[in-house]
Amino acid sequence: MTDLPTLEGDTLDAIAAATDEADLEATRVATLGKKGSISALLSTLGKMAPEQRKTRGAEINALKDKVAVAFEARRQTLREAALEARLAAETVDVTLPVRAGPLDTGRIHPISQVMDELSVIFADMGFSIAEGPDIETDDYNFTKLNFPPDHPARDMHDTFFFPAAADGTRKLLRTHTSPVQVRTMLGKEPPIRVICPGRTYRCDSDQTHTPMFHQVEGLVIDRSANLGNLKWVLQEFLRAFFEVDEVRMRFRPSFFPFTEPSMEVDIQCRRGDGEIRFGEGDDWLEILGCGMVHPNVLGNCGIDPQVYQGFAWGIGIDRIAMLKYGMPDLRAFFENDVRWLEHYGFRPLDIPSLIGGLSA
Ligand code: DAH
Repeated sequence: MTDLPTLEGDTLDAIAAATDEADLEATRVATLGKKGSISALLSTLGKMAPEQRKTRGAEINALKDKVAVAFEARRQTLREAALEARLAAETVDVTLPVRAGPLDTGRIHPISQVMDELSVIFADMGFSIAEGPDIETDDYNFTKLNFPPDHPARDMHDTFFFPAAADGTRKLLRTHTSPVQVRTMLGKEPPIRVICPGRTYRCDSDQTHTPMFHQVEGLVIDRSANLGNLKWVLQEFLRAFFEVDEVRMRFRPSFFPFTEPSMEVDIQCRRGDGEIRFGEGDDWLEILGCGMVHPNVLGNCGIDPQVYQGFAWGIGIDRIAMLKYGMPDLRAFFENDVRWLEHYGFRPLDIPSLIGGLSA
């Protein structure tokens, strides 16, 4: 017959020796489990005489209870020890500096920031934003804008053409944002007041030209829009954008097929010490093209030039971003050098507003 004190001693030793809960559980199964040593003892009771069964049964049950208590106590101890070890391993040194998260390290690209600045300024003047596709038809990019067929201006734009389709038409990467004027006029009744920021493409690359660049087009059509209004809108925009009290402008006659008269606008500036400042000095810098929308363009876009008139302008966004933020090389805008972005980029929550400041 199994010696109960020995079994008890061995079991208690095994319990004490268990190093973790899994180990302890294995010991428990080996003793109290269905096929465990103590359970096996209980199953021998059935074959005993009633008297013997009584005393032996009581002894085995006492052993079983004692062992069960020992298991529970050890389990508690091991659990607490495991928790202690985990807490010790996971301590956080709250005196360490906080690691920078995405809001601290991420940067908004200057172009995106300047687009937001433009939107804020023109929204305040009651303009909405219109967009069009980068891949345009020759018709919208040139023909409807009053470029005669085979006119050299089509080549002056260094256009990227796609191969001609079966019907002879060619798509192209839009060379300016002016086709969005066309789309807007075709889709909307006057009065119209929109700006159209977006990507544009020309086959050109040097310090101030990249094959992909950005423009913002402006278009106003109503019954009485005139050059005086145009001048005011541009003046207000330039003052707000460059964050100066006054910007002097100079309008020079120019030529664009889609405007008549057409003008280029220079703004007053001072150059020196590798720097350029606006609102002072007696130098001039050309920054945009503009004019009164050509009656042919209005007619091509379903607007009666006898009733409506309008003005439009186009500005190179990259150009004014370079000027405002002192970035010398346009190509760096598109090289994705994270050091450049860290230096010239904007914090994600520095959202431009006219009240809070555009470039904060
Ligand atoms: N589309 C012209 C360009 O890319 C810029 C421009 C000039 C746009 C005069 C206009 C405008 O809307 O009126 O060179």
